Amino acid sequence: MKKKQQLAKIHDYVYRLFHDDSTGHDYYHMRRVAKMAKFISSEEHGDTFICEAAGWLHDIGDKKLFDTPDEAVKEMNTFLKDIQISDHEIHQIQVAMKDVSFSKGAKTPTTLEGEIVQDADRLDALGAIGIARTFAFGGARNQLIHHPDKHPNTSIQHFYDKLLLLKDKMNTSTGKSLAMKRHTIMMEFLDHFYEEWEG
Ligand code: ADP
Ligand code: NI
Repeated sequence: MKKKQQLAKIHDYVYRLFHDDSTGHDYYHMRRVAKMAKFISSEEHGDTFICEAAGWLHDIGDKKLFDTPDEAVKEMNTFLKDIQISDHEIHQIQVAMKDVSFSKGAKTPTTLEGEIVQDADRLDALGAIGIARTFAFGGARNQLIHHPDKHPNTSIQHFYDKLLLLKDKMNTSTGKSLAMKRHTIMMEFLDHFYEEWEG
């Protein structure tokens, strides 16, 4: 099967798994991460097929999204074999996926492809989309929008705990320059937010 056909099958597989998510990890998150990973890969000379495939698949097996994460990963591997992705490529995809997540405790990615997909995933937590996803996630968790007394579990607090730190944690220079732009958007948003909050 051609790479293009394999990616089309991956797309359909991911759509089935994530189309009805309402925590900010929906199909369109996967689509943006895949597209961004492909773009960064072309700038940084990574393996673009691995980056795009891992971008699509990166949240499969996430403990907050799957009741049986190990099963989900096993099924994914069977699926990848079925569409004739080689064992070597499946291994590369898995390594990149493991490298991705901040919250899954990954420290430093071990491969360029892992660095690229991690940057793509982090970029989707920043900027206008990042702001939207933060409040979607917060709503799904019944979390307050904001509390003026530095309440620890609010969506606004999440900007300080994680999102505003990400621009300094980017792996690639392409990722870093995109992150700077999105960082500014969040800072501007927070300025407006406090201004409007005070009324
Ligand atoms: P990953 O992409 O590795 O799954 P997370 O699940 O931590 O990372 O983040 C996914 C999205 O959910 C991001 O947009 C992030 O801002 C948002 N999010 C994660 N934790 C919180 C939180 N405590 N409050 C608000 N938003 C959150
Ligand atoms: Ni993600």
